[in-house]
Amino acid sequence: MAIALAAALIGVLATLSQRDGLRWSSFSFDNVSVDPVTERLRVLTQYRQMLGAILRDPDAPATSWASQMLDGEKYLTCGFQGGQTNQLISKLNALYLAKLLNRTAILAPFTAVHFKGAYRSIDDMYDLPRLLDSAGTRGISFERLKERGRRNNEHEHIACWAIMDAVRYRYERPPENPAVWRLNALTLEFWAPPTFPSNENGFPDVEVIGDFLGNQTAQNNWLETVRRDLLPQQPRAHNDTSAPRAPTVENVVAGFNPLSDRWPSADAQLQCIDALFHVSDAFGLRYKPV
Ligand SMILES: *[C@@H]1O[C@H](CO)[C@@H](O)[C@H](O)[C@H]1NC(C)=O
Ligand SMILES: *[C@@H]1O[C@H](CO)[C@@H](O)[C@H](O)[C@H]1NC(C)=O
Ligand SMILES: *[C@@H]1O[C@H](CO)[C@@H](O)[C@H](O)[C@H]1NC(C)=O
Ligand SMILES: *[C@@H]1O[C@H](CO)[C@@H](O)[C@H](O)[C@H]1NC(C)=O
Repeated sequence: MAIALAAALIGVLATLSQRDGLRWSSFSFDNVSVDPVTERLRVLTQYRQMLGAILRDPDAPATSWASQMLDGEKYLTCGFQGGQTNQLISKLNALYLAKLLNRTAILAPFTAVHFKGAYRSIDDMYDLPRLLDSAGTRGISFERLKERGRRNNEHEHIACWAIMDAVRYRYERPPENPAVWRLNALTLEFWAPPTFPSNENGFPDVEVIGDFLGNQTAQNNWLETVRRDLLPQQPRAHNDTSAPRAPTVENVVAGFNPLSDRWPSADAQLQCIDALFHVSDAFGLRYKPV
């Protein structure tokens, strides 16, 4: 069931590359008219070229994302939640957003829920060169940036929109910061996004999120509101000595760090979204050609 759904979603994503937006029923991977060996070579060559255009060293992960990312290229990454299908939907939404925003999607590994072990790179589970070719978008796995768990990895912080907070309900616990971020020496600094208008399914369309992520004015306006009204999060007065071991801020929503000097930005080289599951229709049929 999960595999069938995944295949369906990949098919839908693939139609994004078609100018006129093929109907779901008319799409097929099987009627490629060229010789399969030539076709495979074309796809792999193109994938190789893409890697060369978006990574400093396509052949070896670096010790930091920052040192692996190329000037002039912009990236987007996304957390995840749920089982494999939900994790996949998050990744497909990330690829779609990356295409809308002309960024490279950095795709998290799958975390073991329905299979044994801990994490599996998307490179090991899906044919990424073919998927990206069909979808006409740029993407890479986490594993091409930093090797999970390596001791000399540099610790990095990433400002990240907590979209799930705005999509479903206000977080009752901290935004998901799956262990995989920690294992990649990454700490997410969460920011509350605005509440987005919902479609008839009760969730926002991916495009609505994309409009916000691509609009620096809207983000700056919103960040002002957040700082002023939302993440209450005023630093504790320095003269307050009532609780020697108290945190340095009070009235803080868990998971959000008001003292962070890293703000998400439409101009940032790397944009982050906590997860993109309950966004748009769960079956992806609302995706529009871009
Ligand atoms: C695949 O089939 C569709 C519908 O029959 C057709 O319109 C399209 O041109 C075919 N594509 C290729 C690459 O043959
Ligand atoms: C998309 O980004 C690439 C950089 O990777 C750039 O070369 C290209 O001009 C951009 N396209 C548009 C339409 O902005
Ligand atoms: C960006 O956001 C601002 C403020 O919300 C809005 O006035 C403007 O129309 C938006 N720009 C685009 C291109 O959507
Ligand atoms: C601490 O400083 C604030 C202003 O920064 C002031 O309103 C408050 O009265 C001070 N508290 C004490 C105990 O001095």
